[in-house]
Amino acid sequence: MNKEWPYPRIVAHRGGGKLAPENTLAAIDTGARYGHTMIEFDAKLSRDEHIFLLHDDTLDRTSNGWGIAGEMPWHQLAQLDAGGWFSSAFSNERLPLLEAVAARCRQHHLMANIEIKPTTGYEAQTGKAIALAARELWQGETAPLLSSFSVVALEAARQAAPELPRGLLLDEWHEDWQAMTRALDCVSVHLNHRLLDAERTAAIKQAGLRILVYTVNQPERARTLLEWGVDAICTDRIDIIGPDF
Ligand code: G3P
Ligand code: CA
Repeated sequence: MNKEWPYPRIVAHRGGGKLAPENTLAAIDTGARYGHTMIEFDAKLSRDEHIFLLHDDTLDRTSNGWGIAGEMPWHQLAQLDAGGWFSSAFSNERLPLLEAVAARCRQHHLMANIEIKPTTGYEAQTGKAIALAARELWQGETAPLLSSFSVVALEAARQAAPELPRGLLLDEWHEDWQAMTRALDCVSVHLNHRLLDAERTAAIKQAGLRILVYTVNQPERARTLLEWGVDAICTDRIDIIGPDF
C-alpha cells in the first residue's frame, strides 16, 4: 500500500545544485530563487552534538577548515568560511545549523529531504538526534523526508521519531532492497539513477515504495526516469530541470 508522499517531482540537490556553495543558506536561497519547492541537504553532528550541514566527513573541500568535522566543537565550526571555496562572493557563508535551515525553508515554503550523513562511528547517535530535531523544527510543516545510506542511522531515526518518513539511499543495487526497506519501514528508496531500468522501477513501485533518484543532470535522462514511474528527481541542474519540469 502506498504511504503518504506529498513531495514534488524535482528536488534541488544540496540546496542550490551547482549554482551556490552546497549546503549553505545561500544555496537554499538559490534553490528558492529558481522556484524549487523542495531541497535536499546533508546533516551531521559536531562533537558537542550540534546539528549542522556538511556533505563530506572532512572540512577540507567545502570550507577553509580541515580535518574531521564531527570531531570539532560547534563554536569552532561556526567560525569557518563555507562559501569562499566556491567564490569570493560567498565568503560570508557559514556552516548552517539545522535550526537556521528549518527557518529558511519555512521562509521560502520549501519542503526538505534531510540526508543523515553521520561521521563514521556516530551513526545511531546522529540518526536519533536529527530525527528528534526534525520533528521539533518542522512542526506544523510538511514532514521532512529523512534519508541515509546508513541503515543504523535510519533505524535510530525510526525508533526516535517513527512518524517521520524515511527513505533508504542506495549507491549499488541490493537484491534484498525490499527486506531492507521493510525493516526500516521506509516510504521510499533513493537510488543512484544509473542503477535503474524500467523493470526495476516497476518492481519497486509494485511493492508500494516511492522512488527518488540522484543525481540526474541531463533533461533527457530525467524524462526517461519519470516515464518509467520514478517519483522524484534530485538534480544539480536546478536551472534546466526546474520545478515545472
Ligand atoms: O540524497 C541524494 C544524494 O544527495 C546522495 O548522494 O553524495 O550527493 O550525498 P550525495
Ligand atoms: Ca546528499
